[in-house]
Amino acid sequence: QTISWDPEDAAKSGYDHYMKKEIHEQPRAIRQCLRGRVDELEGHIALEEVAALEPEGTVQFVACGTSYHAARYGARLLRQRGVQTQSFLASEYTADAVPVSDETLVVGVTQSGETADTMRALREANGAGATTLALTNTVGSSAARECDHVCYIRAGPEIGVAATKTFASQQVALALVAGALTGDASPAFLKALRELPDQVQTILDSSRAREIADAYVDADAYFFIGRGDAAPVALEGALKMKEITYKHAEGFAAGELKHGPLALVSGETPVFAILTEGSKLEKTLGNVKEVEAREAPVVAVTDAPEKVGRYADHVLEVPSSHPQLTPVLANVQLQLVSYWVANRLGRSIDKPRNLAKSVTVE
Ligand code: G6P
Repeated sequence: QTISWDPEDAAKSGYDHYMKKEIHEQPRAIRQCLRGRVDELEGHIALEEVAALEPEGTVQFVACGTSYHAARYGARLLRQRGVQTQSFLASEYTADAVPVSDETLVVGVTQSGETADTMRALREANGAGATTLALTNTVGSSAARECDHVCYIRAGPEIGVAATKTFASQQVALALVAGALTGDASPAFLKALRELPDQVQTILDSSRAREIADAYVDADAYFFIGRGDAAPVALEGALKMKEITYKHAEGFAAGELKHGPLALVSGETPVFAILTEGSKLEKTLGNVKEVEAREAPVVAVTDAPEKVGRYADHVLEVPSSHPQLTPVLANVQLQLVSYWVANRLGRSIDKPRNLAKSVTVE
């Protein structure tokens, strides 16, 4: 008797999709990213890859898609440590329009290290005299070879087209870069980094994202809002939802809602609000009240359920962490919601229509 098996199913280790497997690999991916890089005893981040860099001028980030959201998050963490930063969609970056000098550090965030838009931006920055740093998952990639410096995110292979664990690892690697470049990493920050993998595991073990997906699978549109460090995660939540469900989804910095998007909000549009301590929770609650007045169902992603529970129809809880790191946790809940909506809709989750894992044309 023979047992037939498909090598692809075997590689999924019992998961229905690579995406689900990769979401569940995040604790390990984060642990790998942190390994040997955080010295809690000495109270510093040991990231040799950037040790030689002492940015005198602006730090510019260039990236596309999910990596751009990680870049926006990383730029905020650096800015909060006193460094001037700018983030650009790589396709919009041209060294003739953006001031670049030999004091500029340009960080290309690209999990594949091959994205044409990002590579073009990095080459242009190089040509204009900037120092370049690749933040990538891929050893030997174009970005790793062509940039002056490289920092690996160490997420391990990602097969699903929709980036999940590479995003988490980019966020963590960028938190390390921010701490290492500035020497500003408090004991609380280092401790929170160490605790992240177990906290992600707690979310994976207890998430109620599947129930939320069941409740709102028929919605035509989804909105995601967050402020401060959580704003890039709101953008990422919406991108993930679009990519794998083919449904209309938009992410906003919560304060922008009233400047237009509110016109689209109705009782049929679930709003996912990231209400975490440190990401201007009280102000975002104000926005939640605005959408509730339009009868939109509200799903709060929060580390403070006692404060926000009564304003939300559902709560997706995340453990408390350092305020700058809670967005890493919030994102995991949003990944799971998108996954389960796509699953219920029977979408081609690992290979969504029209999309490619790595886009090598401009
Ligand atoms: C493609 C993928 C996205 C990814 C983007 C940037 O569009 O479908 O998931 O975020 O490229 O990829 P990179 O390899 O540069 O991070």
